[in-house]
Amino acid sequence: MKRIVVVSNRVGLPAPNSESSGGLVTGVHAAMRGRGGLWFGWSGKVTPSPSDAPEIVQAAGIDYATIDLDQAAYNEYYLGFANGTLWPLCHFRLGLFEYERTQAEAYEAANERFARALMPLLRPDDLVWVHDYHLIPLACALRRLGCQQRIGFFLHIPLPPPRALAILPRHKELFSSLLDYDLVGLQTVEDADALRAFCRQNLGHLVMPDGTLLGPQRRTATGVFPIGIDPQAQQRIAVKSAKLSTTRRLLDSLGGRKLILGVDRLDYSKGLSYRFRAFGRLLGAHPEWRSRVTYLQIAAPSRIEIARYREARLELERQAGRINGKYAEFDWVPIRYINRGFTPKTLAGFYRVAQVGLVTPLRDGMNLVAKEYVASQNAADPGVLVLSPFAGAAAELDSAVIANPFDIDALAEALHTALTMPVEARRERWAALHAAVEHGNAERWQQSFIAALEGVSALPRAATASR
Ligand code: G6P
Repeated sequence: MKRIVVVSNRVGLPAPNSESSGGLVTGVHAAMRGRGGLWFGWSGKVTPSPSDAPEIVQAAGIDYATIDLDQAAYNEYYLGFANGTLWPLCHFRLGLFEYERTQAEAYEAANERFARALMPLLRPDDLVWVHDYHLIPLACALRRLGCQQRIGFFLHIPLPPPRALAILPRHKELFSSLLDYDLVGLQTVEDADALRAFCRQNLGHLVMPDGTLLGPQRRTATGVFPIGIDPQAQQRIAVKSAKLSTTRRLLDSLGGRKLILGVDRLDYSKGLSYRFRAFGRLLGAHPEWRSRVTYLQIAAPSRIEIARYREARLELERQAGRINGKYAEFDWVPIRYINRGFTPKTLAGFYRVAQVGLVTPLRDGMNLVAKEYVASQNAADPGVLVLSPFAGAAAELDSAVIANPFDIDALAEALHTALTMPVEARRERWAALHAAVEHGNAERWQQSFIAALEGVSALPRAATASR
């Protein structure tokens, strides 16, 4: 079996009791657990004049190799181009899109540095699997250094339609570099269609009926590979965690009230302020829920150096304050808003006891919280998932209560429906959701992507890097 080399900006470095750090780390970890391999990327540290020689640690069959970033790369590559330019663009938030040429150059330079640091670690028959929008031109940089290995790319976030993508200056150069990969994977059919349409219309590629992109001298396969979790492990952890003192304390504090739970990074793409307003509207339209239901929203701070993220935080504080001020009783607070992360174990216990899992992003690549919530339920008395149609997960989890997060009244009604759903209907929906989560699990994601990468018929690579 060939070795897999995963490359991603964020690496799930082994650390006891570390907090959950986003869908990429969750999914890649679950996928690598059975197979092992090398995971290369950023250490999460910012240091002056960092070395290009990676620091290597081993744990549970995985070698982790990481490099630090300097402050300029952190600001311009990570906060700037990756999260100030590509993130809002790909999440359909053109009003928040910002562009600075120096940041685009820093992004290129960071990719070149990642390639230089990775090259000496590669073995001839490795399969290289690059992840997410931080590293689109990585294969191009690796090919320029002579890398001949198979390289696949997986985009965890959505792709908007061609006309939106085209607002990115020099979009042709950036997206043409995808042709240095042998395979490009996306979360949903919609994302794959967007990429193929963009490549046809904006880059002049031929798109074959099987989705293969044909450019000058090069070809790249494309496919849909929805990321998943390890549902059995999640279920085991949830059953155990239900007995943790954290879960018991949560239940005690609820005093028999129902619980609506949201767990997200604090990101404007997650639609948290819409959820707060919908919960307020539920309490207004259905006074019978006052003092009978609590909404716990866990929102771990993220990318807080970016102004829009700080604004999102202020907005949520204002809204939670307003709704709590209006409806709270001396012995009940409607919204518990927590601005920090928790360990996956603690969260699993919370998922298990929440009657409603509220996952309503305005746009999301997949959203693994939705799958974790489903896998954590008690089959005899499962909770209800309220899900946005704009999360990639909705393509598989269509038995959830689907609600458009922009329609506050619809979202409030969806909460009411979920809170009042009889147990038979809950069991029926959950069985369908659970089957979908089992089917699209992390192992299948990894195996199908790697099989496709091994299966593509590569053209000779010598000196074919796109730039
Ligand atoms: C999303 C992205 C990941 C990223 C994660 C956490 O899931 O797709 O690439 O790692 O958010 O964001 P952060 O900026 O903390 O890495």
